[in-house]
Amino acid sequence: LPVAGADGLGRALRDLRLSVTDRCNFRCGYCMPKEVFGRDHAFQPKSELLSFEEMERLARIFVGLGVEKIRVTGGEPLLKRDLPVLIGKLAALKGLKDLAMTTNGSALAVMAKPLFEAGLKRVTVSVDALDDSVFRRMNDVDFPVNRVLKGIDAALEAGFGPVKINMVVKRGVNEDQMVPMARHFAGPQYVLRFIEYMDVGATNGWRLDDVVTAKEIVRRLSGEMDLLPVAANYVGEVARRFRCAVSDTEIGVIASVTQPFCRGCTRARVAADGEFFTCLFGAKGHDLRALLRGGLSDERVADAIRAVWGARDDRYSEVRSEGAGMPRAEMSKLGG
Ligand code: GTP
Ligand code: 5AD
Ligand code: SF4
Ligand code: SF4
Repeated sequence: LPVAGADGLGRALRDLRLSVTDRCNFRCGYCMPKEVFGRDHAFQPKSELLSFEEMERLARIFVGLGVEKIRVTGGEPLLKRDLPVLIGKLAALKGLKDLAMTTNGSALAVMAKPLFEAGLKRVTVSVDALDDSVFRRMNDVDFPVNRVLKGIDAALEAGFGPVKINMVVKRGVNEDQMVPMARHFAGPQYVLRFIEYMDVGATNGWRLDDVVTAKEIVRRLSGEMDLLPVAANYVGEVARRFRCAVSDTEIGVIASVTQPFCRGCTRARVAADGEFFTCLFGAKGHDLRALLRGGLSDERVADAIRAVWGARDDRYSEVRSEGAGMPRAEMSKLGG
């Protein structure tokens, strides 16, 4: 049965990933390698960025089109000044059921409480290693893991919980950290997710050999702890879920390379400059900023979004080989 407002493959529009900045204070090699994102890298100029008012307006329009969950992303969203002000505006949107943020955690010790008080419901923190030297090498700016761990503690204290932890696994770089991570982030206050290293963007020099597959991740963890598969929380959930009964922890594996989940992909992405993407692997999006600033009514902007979504047929991860070598926007612009 065709779903009202669905795309070309029958997928509804349910989630909005809203990037608030393309800047980041980390230089993770799989996302913003230093050789490309150097000192003189040109980030999006301020005049091209949406204001909080414009973001709020767009978010309201998306909610009117069926979006129930908004995830605030970056770059690093906590680099955005006064982020709690935006969170407050989004939290007040009628019809929105979930409001989350993905962060590197570097400023969470300071920001967790104001964000919680502003109405943010969930935080996800990227942590690629527990070992300090591996962590510093992965963020490539010598940032100590302890400050991120303190940020996670602050998030739990502020009232967030469970806190999700994302670990991108890269062969030969941090694969030995999987078990220590699972032992550290144990307990019902955490959900730990292992992520297959993806070929997003065009700068990280991705090679299939660097991917530790979900199958291998599960096999290696299972050697150390009892993992029981559990059913998905919702249709189209990106992580396959497991439960570690001993520690009462949920563990997820995000296998976008070896087990793509495009079929249930209900995610729209809007970059900080208002460019609207219908797939993480898109090269070019649709300029919503021009519509917002061009004097269109909310209804006309909604019509434009509906038309783009209706024509959507993206399923990059399912047809990966066909798209190899095609131009693509960067992860730091799209917010993952
Ligand atoms: P919740 O299920 O709401 O907790 O969040 P999430 O897992 O959708 O979001 P998060 O930002 O934590 O993303 C986790 C990983 O999944 C990141 O590496 C994302 O880039 C990846 N991911 C999320 N959505 C998609 C998607 O639509 N396509 C692909 N290929 N990867 C995605
Ligand atoms: N492959 C997989 N995950 C990635 N992320 C960033 N770049 C990649 C990549 N190449 C993750 C971040 C963050 C999430 C939004 O996306 O670590 O947790
Ligand atoms: Fe920054 Fe996150 Fe990209 Fe790392 S993965 S460079 S923390 S945006
Ligand atoms: Fe959605 Fe594109 Fe990711 Fe597939 S590859 S799940 S269509 S964003």
